[in-house]
Amino acid sequence: MLSTESAKTITATLPAVRGALGEITALFYEKLFAARPELLRDLFNRGNQANGSQRQALAGSIAAFAGHLVAHPDSRPDTMLARIAHKHASLGVRADQYPIVREHLFAAIAEVLGDAVTDEVVRAWDEVYWLMAHALIALEKRLTYEAGVRDGSVWRPYRVVGRIRETAEVTTFLLRPADGAPVPPSRPGQYVSVQVQLPDGARQIRQYSLSGQLDGGLQISVKRVAAGRRAGESSEDPAGEISGHLHAHVHDGEILYVSPPFGEVVLSEDDGGPLLLASAGIGCTPMIGMLAHLAAAGSRRRILTAHADRSPSAHPFRTDLRRLTDKLSDATADLWYEEGAGDGDPTGAVTVRTGLMDLTRLAIPSGTTAYLCGPVPFMKAARAQLLASGLPAERIHYEVFGPDLGL
Ligand SMILES: Cc1cc2nc3c(=O)[nH]c(=O)nc-3n(C[C@H](O)[C@H](O)[C@H](O)COP(=O)(O)OP(=O)(O)OC[C@H]3O[C@@H](n4cnc5c(N)ncnc54)[C@H](O)[C@@H]3O)c2cc1C
Ligand code: HEM
Repeated sequence: MLSTESAKTITATLPAVRGALGEITALFYEKLFAARPELLRDLFNRGNQANGSQRQALAGSIAAFAGHLVAHPDSRPDTMLARIAHKHASLGVRADQYPIVREHLFAAIAEVLGDAVTDEVVRAWDEVYWLMAHALIALEKRLTYEAGVRDGSVWRPYRVVGRIRETAEVTTFLLRPADGAPVPPSRPGQYVSVQVQLPDGARQIRQYSLSGQLDGGLQISVKRVAAGRRAGESSEDPAGEISGHLHAHVHDGEILYVSPPFGEVVLSEDDGGPLLLASAGIGCTPMIGMLAHLAAAGSRRRILTAHADRSPSAHPFRTDLRRLTDKLSDATADLWYEEGAGDGDPTGAVTVRTGLMDLTRLAIPSGTTAYLCGPVPFMKAARAQLLASGLPAERIHYEVFGPDLGL
């Protein structure tokens, strides 16, 4: 818990910190990477740094944590802490790196807020920082231990034993441990981090959801991110570095360094109630992994799958989705394609429509637990439709394929 004195100081300075977050984060990363260039090369996602998408996540979450401590002193924002701890654990973030982040973050805060940063202010924010850091360190230690990591490194060599072309843009990689060790346990919905050595010597890391079950191995499916222009921009964004590398250069027999599975957005097996798995585009990977698990377990739950894509040919796992749906005793799938669908009557358990996903068209049973994955605007729209259909917010879970700025 935060001391009463610090709580007062945090309440007084939180608006100024929130107001200057953009400036603070930019300066923080500048300082951090100037002092420790290896962190940008081998740990942080340099694509996210270049496009600015991760920048506010770290400092923003500390401000959110501070806000929570002063508003609800008796509780912890567990969902937020779990999301960060799982991500850190999968990246191999170490306890001894927390003082480095603290040093550069506080230097940035002092420089941006100037004289407002008195000793008292530093003391109060230090308390917040270490409360959060120690909570994360404890969670990360437990998660890595549970994942079987004993020697301090999360990275293990896996051999690519097969590639499957799902669509023109998506390829599945089948991976087996190259060191003969058993495959670590996973829960449906989890992801692994993959570390790739690039031609310039950098070892960049990205996360990929487990997209199915492979005996004695792991399966991931990667969408190649093409170069392209965002609406309203004149210059073109470059092609994705790691997805492009995996597609172009990683073939059968190659070794990839892979973390054990982590991730807190996992299939709830508690109440055996109805499930809704709603995805768009490459967001189908954790959903197809969950569905494969349910089918293998012979689940009798009511399962609604909903997927949106550009066209049938762009939809990864289209045939697997149909096969798994048919195999389950009480499952249906609803598909929306922007083009090429051809509206029609339901074919067996699968209904195909043209246009954007509209979950209000589904009869969602009460007590449903929903999982969402896809682009953020898609998930916002889907969540709003589910809330409007009467599903309580705590039953709606979502996975973001990037930094979760909603934290
Ligand atoms: C939990 C989780 C699960 C995931 N699961 C999957 C999955 O199952 N399948 C999957 O395909 N992906 C998944 N992802 C996404 C994946 O981790 C990568 O983010 C994705 O593959 C893109 O990585 P990249 O290296 O190819 O692109 P990056 O090189 O990281 O580029 C990302 C974006 O930034 C832009 N960019 C890069 N540099 C610049 C610059 N200088 N200026 C402007 N823009 C720039 C690129 O154009 C691109 O749009 C998941 C992510 C998370 C967090
Ligand atoms: C109290 C301290 C810290 C907080 C509050 C924090 C917070 C966060 C948050 C919110 C994210 C984004 C999570 C998401 O994906 O949604 C993140 C990601 C990350 N954090 Fe931390 N973090 C802290 C310390 C550290 C430390 C010590 C390191 C290691 C030097 C580190 C390295 C990373 C990396 C590499 C990512 C992924 C970024 C990317 O790949 O784009 N963090 N952290």
